[in-house]
Amino acid sequence: MTEMKRLPVGILGSGKGSNCRAILERIRSGDLAAEARLVVSDVLEAPILDMAREFGVANAYLPPGRFRTRLEPDVEQQLVQMLRDAGVELVVLAGFMRVLHEPMLKAFPRRIINIHPSLLPKFPGLEAWKQALVAGETVTGCTVHYVDEQIDHGQILAQKEVKILPNDTAESLHARIQFLEHQLYPAVIAEFCQRYGKASQHVGRRPDK
Ligand code: GRF
Repeated sequence: MTEMKRLPVGILGSGKGSNCRAILERIRSGDLAAEARLVVSDVLEAPILDMAREFGVANAYLPPGRFRTRLEPDVEQQLVQMLRDAGVELVVLAGFMRVLHEPMLKAFPRRIINIHPSLLPKFPGLEAWKQALVAGETVTGCTVHYVDEQIDHGQILAQKEVKILPNDTAESLHARIQFLEHQLYPAVIAEFCQRYGKASQHVGRRPDK
């Protein structure tokens, strides 16, 4: 039997990269039929870049330009090129703190996903676990969704719930959410891998008569 083709992924992040680690570990252990082709960060000193080196994955720092919440259009075009050159089929945002616009969204339609630490559409934006605590919620969680031009928006692919306990602090709640993120994100990526593996088995095959 031929082995399923591995899904080439690119991971973008600005920070510590714990989701990136969870994904790279699953790939290394053989649990995830993906291949990490490239890790990109808009932050030169981001730990996520050291992590890519630790796992032997190609990595790059992308100087973001003069804006704070998005990339300059020519920089975003450069990012498209880097990902295309690496053969990336699925773009995985793992704590990437920039909103993407047309260059990326047009180049990778329904092929850019993000994880967010709340049950979207509730609490988009920064420190969503704190927003949930302040709002007096009893349940929050994490969401994986397709990326569009709005912050933490786009079609929802999967969610996991986390109970908020009476004695929770922002830190304890965030830790439990992240623990679940590290399971949910690889699980959603696994579904993309399956579809990719199946689709590539059909390529070149003559249609049944
Ligand atoms: C995660 O909590 C994710 O939900 C949000 O950014 C955080 C990134 O964390 N989008 P890490 O860098 O993967 O640890």
